[in-house]
Amino acid sequence: MGKNINITLDGPSGSGKTTIAKSLASRLGYVYVDTGAMYRGVAWYMFSQGIAVDDEAGVVASLSGLKLELKLNNGEQKVIVNGTDITGQIRTPEISMGASTVSKIKDVRLKMVSMQRDIASSCDSIFDGRDMGSFVLPDADFKFYLTADVDERAKRRYLELKLKGMEVALEEVKTDMIKRDEQDSQRAFAPLVVPQGAFVIDTTNLTIDEVENMIIQKIKK
Ligand code: DC
Repeated sequence: MGKNINITLDGPSGSGKTTIAKSLASRLGYVYVDTGAMYRGVAWYMFSQGIAVDDEAGVVASLSGLKLELKLNNGEQKVIVNGTDITGQIRTPEISMGASTVSKIKDVRLKMVSMQRDIASSCDSIFDGRDMGSFVLPDADFKFYLTADVDERAKRRYLELKLKGMEVALEEVKTDMIKRDEQDSQRAFAPLVVPQGAFVIDTTNLTIDEVENMIIQKIKK
């Protein structure tokens, strides 16, 4: 049996990772893994237990009670926490910030990383996240880093939230995004960095198709 192919897409929020990773996965027939949704699942669980996401001791103590599963349903990733499908509840601004905060905790990361490596070793897969090419799968076959101007990223996220019927202000989205960028790139353990050997794409002025084609060209080479 040949080795599985793993592709990683890292970058800050709003850089286009999720859209591109999903589309590429369906085009290539690979399994798509949204690793941010995993940290969102952890934050959701902590909120549901009344544990503050920055209470490191409390979070670590309650991790053993968390059973997090990912299920693929017609190409859509579902996040299951202790048997409940919470996929529809993890895209709020509170959970976004909560996921960023809880993801600073090393024990949380190690639990997620172990699941991610298991998936990577079992099938051809595309992961989007913050540390996939730098820490989780440094030997991935293809590594990409997507970025974009913060105003453009905030606008994309704002439109996404509005489309879901959420009442948000563009300035607030931008402020949260900057705070999250800082938290994610300054944490001590496995921060957001450009992974060694990653191909960097600035998506500010590119369409989804253009980015996808650049990635496909790189892979074909
Ligand atoms: O990609 P996202 O916006 O859904 O991710 C939510 C948060 O989860 C992000 O701000 C930081 C954290 N995260 C992480 O630390 N490592 C990953 N591989 C993916 C996400």
